[in-house]
Amino acid sequence: MATRNSQFRAISWASQFLSHKRPSWKCASCKNGRPTSILRRSFATAPKDGPKKSYYVTTPIFYVNAAPHVGHLYTMVLADILKRWRVLLGEDDAQLLTGTDEHGMKVQQAAQLAGMDTQAFCDRNYKTFEALAKAANLDNNHFIRTTDPAHKEAVRYFWEMLEHRGYIYTAKHEAGIQLAMKRSILNRRCITLWIRQLARRGCLIFQVSTVTGKEVEWSSETNYHFRLSAFQDRLLELYDTGFIIPGKYMNDLVKSVSSGLQDLSVSRPAERLSWGVPVPGDQTQTIYVWLDALVNYLTKAGYPFPPGQEGRLGWPADVHVVGKDIIRFHCVYWPAFLMALDLPLPRRVLVHGHWTINHEKMSKSTGNVVNPFFAIDRFGVDPMRFYLARAGSIVEDANYDNAYIIACYKKMLQWGIGNLASRTIGCAKGNLRSFIVNAASNQLPPGTASDQNYETFLENMPSEVAEHMKVLNTHAAVKAIMVIIEQANKYFHEREPWKQGPESPRVIYNVTESLRIAAILLQPFMPSKAQELLEMLKVDTSNPERRRFSAAAFGSDPDYGEGVEKKVLFPPLIIEE
Ligand code: MSP
Repeated sequence: MATRNSQFRAISWASQFLSHKRPSWKCASCKNGRPTSILRRSFATAPKDGPKKSYYVTTPIFYVNAAPHVGHLYTMVLADILKRWRVLLGEDDAQLLTGTDEHGMKVQQAAQLAGMDTQAFCDRNYKTFEALAKAANLDNNHFIRTTDPAHKEAVRYFWEMLEHRGYIYTAKHEAGIQLAMKRSILNRRCITLWIRQLARRGCLIFQVSTVTGKEVEWSSETNYHFRLSAFQDRLLELYDTGFIIPGKYMNDLVKSVSSGLQDLSVSRPAERLSWGVPVPGDQTQTIYVWLDALVNYLTKAGYPFPPGQEGRLGWPADVHVVGKDIIRFHCVYWPAFLMALDLPLPRRVLVHGHWTINHEKMSKSTGNVVNPFFAIDRFGVDPMRFYLARAGSIVEDANYDNAYIIACYKKMLQWGIGNLASRTIGCAKGNLRSFIVNAASNQLPPGTASDQNYETFLENMPSEVAEHMKVLNTHAAVKAIMVIIEQANKYFHEREPWKQGPESPRVIYNVTESLRIAAILLQPFMPSKAQELLEMLKVDTSNPERRRFSAAAFGSDPDYGEGVEKKVLFPPLIIEE
């Protein structure tokens, strides 16, 4: 491969970067003589108190080589809950980005297998992910495709900047290439030797993948490398700032980065991989699909940024939501690329566990997947969102189980919320409004110690939920909201307001408030059902202030309850086994 001069494009505002002192070395064709560390620059971590920018959350972008499964739906829903939570807090301009990863070997080969033109294959398949975002009621502001021209332009620019700053050089890259259809690239650690005895003819020695057991062939090729090794210290410092949530995943990464970082091969020969963005000025090489894909988060934030407008569309991202299998890409490569360009770093990466079936990872390669469209059709979009958030775990893997979804639906939604709402409305005998009016004018009967304890509990719960959301623990947050419902049911049964005792109006009011508060807090999790419950209670949902987090305070809405009638919020499931 011919070495070449950097083809630095003349974009007038690119001069912002030119003012930096260039590293003392230049793009070289070998590693000899390169320094072991790189000068620390000013954006070690994202500026915390910069000008106000929109809250910006992202999902990973999904490979279009196969159809989506419930694991993908989970990632989408988590990110959507985080976005909707910020809207609940009053940040109407919060941004959510999702999309599809359309370049690389996997997609190239899947298109070949399907006997289709690769672009046509992507044009067909990305639609399924877009449809899933819609079916899951994602409130995404953007849907990116890595084949979008604007994205390809951003990738080229990003590359040129890395190269211009001296972080890219050419070198020999040695790797095992998996024979057979998949041809995935493996490093030395993933390869072992197998010896097969041949009857009376000695033996054959094979190199095989330790993961798949398939035969690999050792190959050596020259391509472009990124000076990842120079960022080890700064990455370790970054992990100290709480960059990775939860901490469990961070500990493994710290161990691995502390043991040393190799420079990273960031291109592939175009003769092997043609489906991607060509290296600017060198058509014989294609940019590594992960470098290409990670830049998507910048593309939709308006990269390349005109000077002074870096944060205009939300960069740096507040949260990247990712599954645990792609931590290294998001927590090692991505921050290192950004550090190399002095770009602000994403604030946090939220890593979640995997969904399993019979305790094995749900995965398109093994085929043990649940079709998310079928699940949504069967249980409804809100119950599915609720189930995934409630049963899914950030820290551990979670086992997908239809029986548990049904149990969850019956116990928590149908009985827990739906039945409580009907019974409370029943107790109010068609005049729920009068209890709200009396509460607002302080005319409810004085309560017992049990009523007062319950009111204190209700006053405290919204901030407990908010604390969980602050640390991105959607699982703990929805669990805490459901504690409101559980306690409200318990209180209702203990205090028996249907007997119309002297304190009953206070009990009815307290339980109604529990439903209103829970409905407000549930909006990010079950947007439609929460809205239905608020409408059922005749909360003025056309007034955004009545459904914000600030309205989830005990006694804060004096105006609801007029003409409330019973409705079935969670109808019985039609179960076909
Ligand atoms: N294209 C890359 C991501 C690039 S982001 C710049 C990719 N795509 S993927 O389609 O394979 O996976 C997308 C997401 O789905 C990843 O976060 C992955 O962890 C997640 N999941 C895939 N299988 C999963 C489960 N079984 N359970 C939960 N999430 C899972 O990786």
